[in-house]
Amino acid sequence: MKLDHARVLLTGAGGGIGSAMAEALRGAGAAVLGVGRRGGDGPWVRADLATGNGIAAVVGASAAFGSNVVVHAAGVPAFGALGTQSPEQLQHVLQLNLLAPMQLTQALLPQLLAQPRVQLVFVGSALGRIGLPGFSAYGASKAGLHGFAEALRRELADTPVRVQILGPRSTRTGFNDAAVEAYNRATGTTMDTPQVVASALLDLLQSEAAERFIGFPERLGVRLNGVLGARMDGSFARHRRSLSSPHTGVPA
Ligand SMILES: NC(=O)c1ccc[n+]([C@@H]2O[C@H](COP(=O)([O-])OP(=O)(O)OC[C@H]3O[C@@H](n4cnc5c(N)ncnc54)[C@H](OP(=O)(O)O)[C@@H]3O)[C@@H](O)[C@H]2O)c1
Repeated sequence: MKLDHARVLLTGAGGGIGSAMAEALRGAGAAVLGVGRRGGDGPWVRADLATGNGIAAVVGASAAFGSNVVVHAAGVPAFGALGTQSPEQLQHVLQLNLLAPMQLTQALLPQLLAQPRVQLVFVGSALGRIGLPGFSAYGASKAGLHGFAEALRRELADTPVRVQILGPRSTRTGFNDAAVEAYNRATGTTMDTPQVVASALLDLLQSEAAERFIGFPERLGVRLNGVLGARMDGSFARHRRSLSSPHTGVPA
């Protein structure tokens, strides 16, 4: 889609990646309706996406705005050995990263199907295609999101709705705390700026490609992991050793 025709509903618009996306989209001539619990720049709907009322508020505001692009960028982190995470954290990361975009998409579909052309972008993660120690719950939420998007893309193939996946690697925002930064340093993981992710979004919207993963070697890792699967299990000992305790969370 030409970006100056885009009317973008952007969740997570006040976050590190979302605010860079909003700025880049507006700079390219798109109109943006932001979503978040806190307010933000420009047209905005305040909503908690973990609630039915929040989703209903976004659907109403989107109908009035006339969205023809939806970018699901809201999300929450979850880092650490599985044993360090509470049942409530597991519930929350799946609620926000997986269930909320599914429920919002389902509620938006009737209005989107009335548009001549629509693009739905799900912000996934390299960690949804490569399972890394320390990211079991987060990776599950993003792997689920990728599975949802892939099936929906095929389900809606004969409609005006094009479904796309954007897969950032680690990105320098408030999303990643000091523990993740230390893990990234220990494992030699590169962190992008949010502007790199915003620029990849603009490319994705213009190309209409099914998916785009950002960065090398992550893009290659995503492909190899898809083909080799369990045969790559031995490649992640350094990541496992970088956790405070690989199994219980009690410092080793
Ligand atoms: N940063 C990374 O390393 C990285 C890498 C790969 C993928 N990603 C993905 O990229 C997306 C954006 O990440 P980011 O780095 O920009 O994170 P961020 O700076 O923490 O922003 C996250 C956004 O999600 C919104 N949000 C959280 N809970 C919400 C709720 N209950 N209802 C509505 N909105 C909610 C927040 O807005 P409010 O607090 O105002 O509600 C915030 O704007 C996420 O989906 C993340 O999983 C990030």
